[in-house]
Amino acid sequence: MLLLTACNKKVEAEPEAGIKKDSASCAKPLTKEFQMYKMSEMAALMEQMYVDNLRLKERITKDDSIGTFPQHILKIHSSAMTDESENDAFFKLQAAKFIKAQELIYNDPTNAKQHFNDAVTACVKCHEGKCDGPIPRIKKLYIK
Ligand code: HEC
Repeated sequence: MLLLTACNKKVEAEPEAGIKKDSASCAKPLTKEFQMYKMSEMAALMEQMYVDNLRLKERITKDDSIGTFPQHILKIHSSAMTDESENDAFFKLQAAKFIKAQELIYNDPTNAKQHFNDAVTACVKCHEGKCDGPIPRIKKLYIK
């Protein structure tokens, strides 16, 4: 999403770049993709969080250093959703619980595995009330 936006801006900012054949062939398929698949800001954040946690799981299972809490996760409070009516009291409560759970992994790395699995449960809890489609995928994050 960010990459696509960055690319489009570049095309706009340099009109003469159209001479280069790569930028011309870049702009068209991008526009088409945007029309076919409009991912909301929130959906893009979710995909990012999924990847973040996949990597975090790997680091925890390999006993690598955990790193620092990815601040972009806080955008869960403000990102635009496909359906804004979903941003209700339930969502806000679950989002706060999820962030607490996710922060605990970084604040108490000795018990990272337990905290990680609790954070995945927080993902699932919100999804049970909101959109259960991604739940099977999310459950694959659990560290056994
Ligand atoms: C507070 C509620 C809440 C929490 C916590 C939450 N989600 Fe979501 N998730 C949503 C909502 C709502 C959507 C739909 C967003 C939209 O379409 O705008 C979503 C969408 C998704 C999607 C689909 C995105 C797409 O491609 O359309 C995935 C995957 C996902 N979440 C994974 C996760 C993972 C992994 C976690 C935990 C690390 C998590 N979610 C935590 C509410 C939540």
